[in-house]
Amino acid sequence: MRQLLLRPELHRFASCAEFAEAFRLGEGDLVITNRYIYEPGFGALGLGAELVFQEDYGSGEPSDEMAQAIHAALKGGHRRVVAIGGGTVIDIAKLFALERLTPVLDLFDGKIEPRKGRELVIVPTTCGTGSEATNLSIIELKSRGTKLGLAAEALYADHAVLVPELLEGLPYPVFATSSIDALIHAVESSVSPRATAYTKLFGHRAIELIVAGYRAIARGGPEARKPLHEDFLVASDYAGIAFGNAGCGAVHAMSYPLGARFHVAHGEANYALFAGVFRGYREIARDGAMAELEALLASCLGCGRDRAFDELEALLSRVLRRRRLAEYGATGATCAEFAELVARTQGRLMANNYAGLDEARVRKIYESLL
Ligand SMILES: NC(=O)c1ccc[n+]([C@@H]2O[C@H](COP(=O)([O-])OP(=O)(O)OC[C@H]3O[C@@H](n4cnc5c(N)ncnc54)[C@H](O)[C@@H]3O)[C@@H](O)[C@H]2O)c1
Ligand SMILES: [Fe+2]
Repeated sequence: MRQLLLRPELHRFASCAEFAEAFRLGEGDLVITNRYIYEPGFGALGLGAELVFQEDYGSGEPSDEMAQAIHAALKGGHRRVVAIGGGTVIDIAKLFALERLTPVLDLFDGKIEPRKGRELVIVPTTCGTGSEATNLSIIELKSRGTKLGLAAEALYADHAVLVPELLEGLPYPVFATSSIDALIHAVESSVSPRATAYTKLFGHRAIELIVAGYRAIARGGPEARKPLHEDFLVASDYAGIAFGNAGCGAVHAMSYPLGARFHVAHGEANYALFAGVFRGYREIARDGAMAELEALLASCLGCGRDRAFDELEALLSRVLRRRRLAEYGATGATCAEFAELVARTQGRLMANNYAGLDEARVRKIYESLL
């Protein structure tokens, strides 16, 4: 069994200008970004690249409709795609590095083979998705009412670039939801049956960095995150390497219908499911990778193994308030509907679960979180 695949080449720059110079950003580049992220660091550099501001093509997280709208507006002929943004910008940009991406629905249905068409450079500006390290693009298919992930070799970046300066303007709620997403990537992948000693090296270190950062925030308030931006950015990348190899599981699978139906941000939707799914697993088994994870959390949190998940929940609640599913508008009927949808469409992720969760158990977990 493969133990670890490390892609892409990884870079770190102290400023946007240094990155732009080293990569000779300019003509022939298609930069997909947001205006308010691009302008402060790159605006004055006059790069001459073609710019696409994602917010001009739809709001919220990425969808097939957004990608189609951008595609329709482009002239084409780029030699390189540069994504500068959060997971939304990155997952859209990945599709534009393909030779052919439309109709997007056909791409996700496997009717178009994803082939690399141009070089791809990814610069993450949140500290959550780890998408710069994965071969995944996760898009909401509007007509299907859920998000789906496309996994393909051609979706790996050629270069991932970390510029901690870019996180300076990140609003606290996006910091909180995106870093919780990274923590969940690390935790879910650590107990996946595909985890290896190598993926756990990255996943466990990501957990240590994020939990230490959260403890600093619990002590010092939201401002305490600022000197730790680089730790969070690195942790998110580590977590991306871990889950890119070992996979995420039921937390992600079960969050997709919630996110799509009630327009809940990805990290927040994961957070809403996290405690319930792990309670569900631990009712079934607590040995092997779960025991290892409990021991790691206990040592990060300074508590006994039995208290590890309770203490983690208490710490997370100081970073972001967890909402109950009913607060988003879910009912008992929604739980049954989501459980059926997960069973039918999320097999790719559910195969990575620590313990088997059938449709009845999935429904019970949703109901326990209402
Ligand atoms: N492909 C993968 O491997 C993978 C993994 C996890 C999540 N995802 C996807 O990523 C998406 C979520 O990404 P996200 O959590 O990064 O949020 P996001 O990209 O949706 O960004 C949230 C908001 O923050 C803004 N923003 C981002 N960076 C900023 C900055 N530095 N300063 C100011 N504003 C900034 C964005 O413009 C947006 O309005 C979801 O669609 C999710 O499915 C993909
Ligand atoms: Fe995620």
